[in-house]
Order: sequence, then C-alpha cells, then structure tokens
Amino acid sequence: MRFGHFDDEAREYVIATPRTPYPWINYLGTEEFFSLISHTGGGYCFYRDARFRRLLRYRYNNSPTDVGGRAFYIRDGDDVWSPAWMPIKPKLDSFECRHGLGTTKIRGSRNGVTAEMFYLVPLGETAEVCRLTLTNDSKTPKALKVFSFVEFCLWNAWDDQTNFQRNFSTGEVEVEGSTIYHVTEYRERRNHYAVFGVNAPIAGFDTDRETFIGLYNGLHEPEVVLTGSPRNSTASGWAPIGSHCLEVSIAPGEGRDFVFVLGYVENPVDDKWEKPGEVNKEPARALMSRFSDSAQVEAAVAKLRDYWSSLLGTYVLESPDERLNRMVNTWNPYQCMVTFNQSRSASYFESGIGRGMGFRDSNQDLLGFVHLIPERARQRILDIAATQFSDGSAYHQYQPLTKRGNHDIGSGFNDDPLWLIVGVAAYIKETGDFEILSEEVPFDNDEANTASLFEHLRRSFHFTLENLGPHGLPLIGRADWNDCLNLNCFSETPDEPYQTTANREGRTAESVFIAGQFVYTASDYAALADHMGFTEEATAAREHAASMKEAILEHGWDGDWFLRAYDFFGHKVGSHECEDGQIFIEPQGFCVMAGVGVEDGKALRALDSVAERLATPYGIVLNQPAYSGYHVELGEISSYPPGYKENAGIFCHNNPWVMIAETRVGRGDRAFDYYKRIAPAYLEEISEIHRTEPYVYSQMVAGRDAVREGEAKNSWLTGTAAWNYVAIAHHMLGVRPELDGLRVSPRIGAEVPSFSVTRKCRGAVYRIRVVNSLAHDEPRLVVDGTAIEGTLVSYAAAGATVDVECET
Ligand code: GLC
Ligand code: GLC
Repeated sequence: MRFGHFDDEAREYVIATPRTPYPWINYLGTEEFFSLISHTGGGYCFYRDARFRRLLRYRYNNSPTDVGGRAFYIRDGDDVWSPAWMPIKPKLDSFECRHGLGTTKIRGSRNGVTAEMFYLVPLGETAEVCRLTLTNDSKTPKALKVFSFVEFCLWNAWDDQTNFQRNFSTGEVEVEGSTIYHVTEYRERRNHYAVFGVNAPIAGFDTDRETFIGLYNGLHEPEVVLTGSPRNSTASGWAPIGSHCLEVSIAPGEGRDFVFVLGYVENPVDDKWEKPGEVNKEPARALMSRFSDSAQVEAAVAKLRDYWSSLLGTYVLESPDERLNRMVNTWNPYQCMVTFNQSRSASYFESGIGRGMGFRDSNQDLLGFVHLIPERARQRILDIAATQFSDGSAYHQYQPLTKRGNHDIGSGFNDDPLWLIVGVAAYIKETGDFEILSEEVPFDNDEANTASLFEHLRRSFHFTLENLGPHGLPLIGRADWNDCLNLNCFSETPDEPYQTTANREGRTAESVFIAGQFVYTASDYAALADHMGFTEEATAAREHAASMKEAILEHGWDGDWFLRAYDFFGHKVGSHECEDGQIFIEPQGFCVMAGVGVEDGKALRALDSVAERLATPYGIVLNQPAYSGYHVELGEISSYPPGYKENAGIFCHNNPWVMIAETRVGRGDRAFDYYKRIAPAYLEEISEIHRTEPYVYSQMVAGRDAVREGEAKNSWLTGTAAWNYVAIAHHMLGVRPELDGLRVSPRIGAEVPSFSVTRKCRGAVYRIRVVNSLAHDEPRLVVDGTAIEGTLVSYAAAGATVDVECET
C-alpha cells in the first residue's frame, strides 16, 4: 500500500495522508544548521551538534509518537485546529506534505481555510525559515487567530533530558516586538542564543510552557489557544517556549503570508552585551531583516533549488526504469548528503545525544558524497585523520562540535584504521588531488605530533599487519564492522556496554572480514604509494595483500563460503560446524570484492551460498541460522531476538557488498535483483509492511526469523546509503572514477536494456550511452568516435565534453 507518490519533476515525495505507518521525515540544511522535520511538523533543529547546540526540545520514544518540536494552531471562530494535523489531529478537508531537497511543505485545510507551511534552512544561514500562507477559500471573510509554537531545548540535549534539579531553574527569555529570544545560560558561559520571530505585528505572545499549555494538558489542548487569548507570559526557569499570536483577517478568495524565522545567533565573546545585562541582539535583527518578506524567502528557495540542481548534475542517469532513475538521480545522493552531515548522530532513531561522527561511518559516507562536494570531503578527511592515534588505531567516534575523539567509546575497533584508506582513495579518484597526501595532520588532535596524511594511511595499513592473530588473520579487537561481534567482551553483567567491555584480553580472536577488507584496501593503498614514489612500500603492500589472501584461503574458507571469525578460544564463527550462525554475509561480500577466490571458483561458491542461505524477498540477512540464545563468547550479536539487527536481520549496509561482488564475478542480473529488494523506491507499494520512508534506505529490515519480517527501522543514517550508491552507480551502471581514468564497465543484467549516464568529473563532462546487449564478455567502448582497448576512459581536460558509446 502506498501513502503518497514521487513527484520526479519537482524532486519531492508527496505524502497524501498524515497517517503514515511511521513519521516520515526530512532534513533541512546542509551546512551548519540542521532541522529534522516530519510530515506533520515534528522534529527539532540544532546548530552543528545535535547534543551540544540543540534549539528545540523533542521527546523520543513518546506516545503519541512525534509530538513536540514545532506547531501552528488556528482559531477560526470557536473552531481550533492544527494545519499539520498534529498535535490536535483535527479532521482535515485536505492534507499534503511534500518533502523535497532541503524543503518541506505541509498543507492542511479545514472549513474554507488552507494553511501552507513551507520550511527551509536557507543557504548561508543558521536558521529555519517557515513561510506560512493562509488562504480563505470560503465565501465569507475570515478573522483568524494564529498561534505559533516551539519548545526550546536548554542547549545541551543530554542535560536537558536528565538534569531537572538544575534546569527547572535556569530558563530565561526576552521579548522585543515580534521577536522572542531564548537566552538560557547566556548570562554565564554561552555566547549564543536562539531567536524566534515573525515579520508582522503580533497580538501577544507566550514564552512559558505551563501558561501556554496548562500543566495537565497535552499539546493538543493548549489552554491559551482554547481560550483564544495570549497571556504575554515570560518564562523564568521551567520550560521556555516561543509562541506568537497573530490576528489575521482574510477576505474571501484572498491569502496572507507570514515569515517565521527560528535562528541560532552567536556573538563574539567580547561583544555579548549591548549594555551591561542587555543581550546583543544586532545579529538577530539583521537575520530577521533578511527574511522580512515573502520575496526574500522565494529568493532563498530559488538559490537552494539551483544548488541542488547543480550538485545532482554530477551524475545523471536516463534509463527506462523510473524507479531506478529516481534512486540514482535524486534520493540516494540526497540521503548521502544527509549521512555525510549527520553521520549516525540525529535521526528519529538516533537521539542526537549518544553518538557523534563515526570514524568508520564517516569514511564510508564519503564514498557516496565525494562527487557532490569534493572540497567538503577533503576537510572531512583531514578532521577524521586527526582523530587517529600514532600507532594507527583510531577513536571510534568524534564530536562534531569539538572535532575531538570521544573518550567514552575510545578505540579498539580494529577495522576502523583501514576505512581511512578507503575514504581517502575515493576522494583522490574523484579529484586527482594527490596533494592531500602531503597535508600535515595531527595524531589525536595534538599539534605537536603531526605527520603527512600519507603517513597516517601507512600507519593504518601497518596497524592491521602488527595486529595479526594465530592464523595470520587480523585481530578483531572490540569488534570489526559488525559492532555486535564482541569476541573479547564475555559479559554476564547487564549494563556492561558490549563494545567497550573486554573481560578477557587475548590476542586470539580474529576477523576474516578485516582480512578481506585489508586485501581490498591494499590495492588502492599500493597505488597511492606508487603515485607518491614510495615504490618499496607499494611492492611490500602488494606482497602483504598476497599473503593475507593466502591466509584467507587457508584459514578463512569453510568449504562453501568464507568463515566469519575465530573467537577467543580459536573456535570458528560462521562455519557449517556451528550450531547457529553458520554463515555470515560480510566476508562473502568483502572477500569477493577484494578478488579473493575469484580465480579458483571459491568466490562463485560463496556467492551461491549467499543466494541459497541468506537471500530473502526483503533482502539478504546478515547470518543464518539466527542465534537462538545468548553466547557470552560472541557478545551483542546474540543478544537480539532472532531476525532483528545483527542477529539475522537484513542489515542493509552489507547487501551492496554482495551486489558489488556479484558484478565482480560477472552476474549483473543478480546484483540488480538484490538491489531492487532493498532500494526504497521499489518498496513503495509495501509501505504498510516496510513502514519507514519510501525515499530513503533504512539500516535494518527485520529478517525471516523475526516476528515482524519485512519491517524496517533506523531510516536515514546508515552506511547503506553510500554503499548502495557505489553499488548501483559505480558497479552496476558501471561508471566510476579511478586514479587514471573514468571506468565504464556496466554489469546490470538484461532488465535495463539501455541507458545513458552524464557524469561530470574533474571539470570535464562524459556523455555515456550504453547498449546493454550482453553480447560480449567485456564491454566495448568507442570514445569520441574511436574504439579503445579496455574500459578505462582517459581523463579529459577540464571544460571538455567526451562522448562514450558502450556496448556490453
Ligand atoms: C551501525 C554502525 C556501524 C556498524 C554497523 C554494524 O550501522 O553505525 O558502524 O558497522 O552498525 O554493526
Ligand atoms: C548497537 C547497535 C549496533 C550499532 C552499535 C553502535 O550495538 O545494535 O547496530 O552499530 O550499537 O554503537
């Protein structure tokens, strides 16, 4: 069942009913100010860091779901309603929400009044702007009262939800004209405040939640709205809110516009005050004046549209499959932008409190983002690398505001270092910017201890080599890519974190996944070393990769698939000898991507085992059989009920590894089949089962062992976005930048008989037309009228246009 439709022209998903199977959200803002907004206006916003600079309070895991954040209320005579449906849930005559690229438009109508809220975070601003348009579609004049509502978070979102003995006494606001200032803690160490204003005179305001809503009322029955009179309350302690009251008369057939601005303002420390005790409001006034009328909003919207058109113009697919086009051209890269910005910090499943930027996560997010804005990818790489330790290991996470490694989670995830090589290689392939390798980058943010970025990569690579176990395979440490394979944890005590507890420290537990990742990474690492003139290092890297390949084939092969790991005791994990967890997806994907077993048929065997044992209609599950009980020697993986998360859920992140592996062995049809099983646009028709947004990937879909098979969770912030982009754009459609040229080598099977890709890369434009006749073993290319050998198209000079004809 569908709950809306794609508007491909407008690049929007149009939601036709407020009763979606779960709140369907969007992200506004791509730079420093971010908003999460659901189709009924729920959500919150923050400046840079969802934990430390949160503007709006939001209650996760609430019932009813998704109340809070922002709202509008309309009083039309005695009728009180909320045009975004929540929180009053009135009967609406019409409802529509359009989530677009950085914009969300929610429209509701009732009794001849239509209210449209158009939200965006304009480029270059640290503010969420909402243009409210009210129209009177009835035959009689309307005299409406409109109430805005936001609830402020006292900045530190963790403290805000836990430290009530303090924060019930700290809240402060100021009101000037139509502008409400949230100034909690400004008196002491903060030099930032929030501002919430509207471009029209107001009939009154409220800033105290208890006064506005009533202590025993819900947001669906705010006292002030029910009585119709603002109280001009001033919050002092307790819960500061922002609410304007507007009195609006509209003649039949007419409309009125209002512009609301909710912004973050930071003053220089020595310019905090206008006079002693008086907050410096100048920057806020300037911000408000930039959005004092509708035309300014229109201009900001146009700028944002141009921005997205230009970003998405980097890779444009035209194919006969409209669902494929909308994934590749719009929604998948859009999600990649969001994961690049948020890593795993703030979604409707990630609270924005617990996790900062992940080392491995952010490196992988780069893969789907780097072609959009390479300069930002460059800065991100330098930030990430600065959280590496000098022995090559790395902080697992860092805080976006401070860019410092997060001590709570620390280090010891032994796959982390290698992802830096993967991220850097992707950046250089896209840009040709080898100079980045010579940038001086600190270890652990210590300016006194720096080395070139290449040296960081060298230490990453050698960290793996210095940490090999009894079978010559890499030690797993706290976990590898699979956060829940905690082979040194041995926890019998509730509340011990699986990832950071090591009750037994042995150098025995090994990961076949990291082994495959090492081989995969080694070829890029060696090529980069060659480019830097480090020929010996390049040769050595290739030799290490060859021995690792042998170690995998000797100790990491189980007969029909690749093993997953050796546990602390040296027992096999992911073997036919095991009772549960006999086969895991990760090493099948990564080892084959790395080329292990491609010559001797093992790769094909492993992938056939995936097809037989792990593939389901909703995607490929992580392992089988699911663990039916807790295994102290395995850790968190066995803590989940069968079919959820890492215990045999469809953990979508690793599905594209298998897709890429299938293209590697020439089975594009299978790759594309797997692709369609999890690509959200193909799941639109089963939204009632899938439940999360049909325009973005979710981290997990419940597997075949689960009670709720097919139900997705953790939408938006997942490495699934980047890897599926790589799988489809680079490997199935087959257009990918390499160090020495643009590879054009499609492997997508007969279902897509022909297509064209326009790819901008390094300043040139490649117009690629593919006839997917599947007649040849290797695709044949004609470049600007001349047939070439192989599938690598040399990079053209910036400004050039290159025509490529490809026949498969
Ligand atoms: C989560 C984490 C990621 C991890 C994966 C598998 O998505 O963000 O780092 O690799 O789970 O456990
Ligand atoms: C939990 C989740 C896992 C995630 C990890 C990140 O273990 O189950 O999916 O990757 O937390 O810390």
